[in-house]
Amino acid sequence: MNGDESVLDDPVGTSLSGRHAHLARRVGRAVGYLPDVATFCSVSAEPDDADWADLAALLGPGAFADMFSSPAVPPPGWEPAFTLEGRQLIWPGDGPPGLPGAEPDTGLVELGRDDVPEMLELVARTRPGPFWPRTRELGTYLGVRVDGALVAMAGERLRPPGWTEISAVCTAPEARGRGHAARLVGALTTRVVARGERPFLHVAEANAAALALYERLGYKTRKQVTFRGFTTP
Ligand SMILES: CC(C)(COP(=O)(O)OP(=O)(O)OC[C@H]1O[C@@H](n2cnc3c(N)ncnc32)[C@H](O)[C@@H]1OP(=O)(O)O)[C@@H](O)C(=O)NCCC(=O)NCCS
Repeated sequence: MNGDESVLDDPVGTSLSGRHAHLARRVGRAVGYLPDVATFCSVSAEPDDADWADLAALLGPGAFADMFSSPAVPPPGWEPAFTLEGRQLIWPGDGPPGLPGAEPDTGLVELGRDDVPEMLELVARTRPGPFWPRTRELGTYLGVRVDGALVAMAGERLRPPGWTEISAVCTAPEARGRGHAARLVGALTTRVVARGERPFLHVAEANAAALALYERLGYKTRKQVTFRGFTTP
């Protein structure tokens, strides 16, 4: 099994230089996802002024530089846009999660291009974190439909070598507390482990419900992170 944890310190950069290279745009050592896929971007671990200038050239003036969990501090002239305390959790073992109840994949559907408007609607109602019209292209997204309506979903986002991030975990308010999120995260965890990779995920420190869910499934905190965004000069 893979599982070099150091690639999780720059999950955006290591995804964009590997599995997501086809969804990247670059100037020098600055790299970001294509618009509509994700706003996340990355510079080298110890960026110099030239790297920041490359990122500013990549994004344009007055643009949102979403640095994800990078601790790198840009030079003067870059205005902070947001900070959010969070955690990175990893799946500790090489087996699938032990889920009480139904078979993990029962009732779950794979979501395709035609499902995107409904996925965006569910995200707007539940706010699980950033999700854009082309985010689905980053991996497999699974959903739960009740009477035809999409009420819960989760999917794969960042792909550092040997790892897959589980993301966009959300359940419509009227469908919560029925185990949908647990089954979705469980099913994705099982799939990732089955292909010899390890799952990981991120959660805002204040999101007690989601954190409790992930810990109940068996995820362990690897480290505290601070999500940061800036406005380019
Ligand atoms: C966090 C979130 C995804 C949970 O979705 P959910 O489908 O309600 O989750 P589950 O039903 O699997 O688990 C939630 C709780 O219901 C309980 N539960 C699970 N199955 C149950 C069942 N069959 N009957 C009753 N309760 C059940 C679980 O014990 C769990 O309780 P806990 O808080 O003690 O862990 C949902 O609250 C949400 O969409 N939040 C907003 C978006 C968000 O923050 N996403 C996470 C981003 S990291």
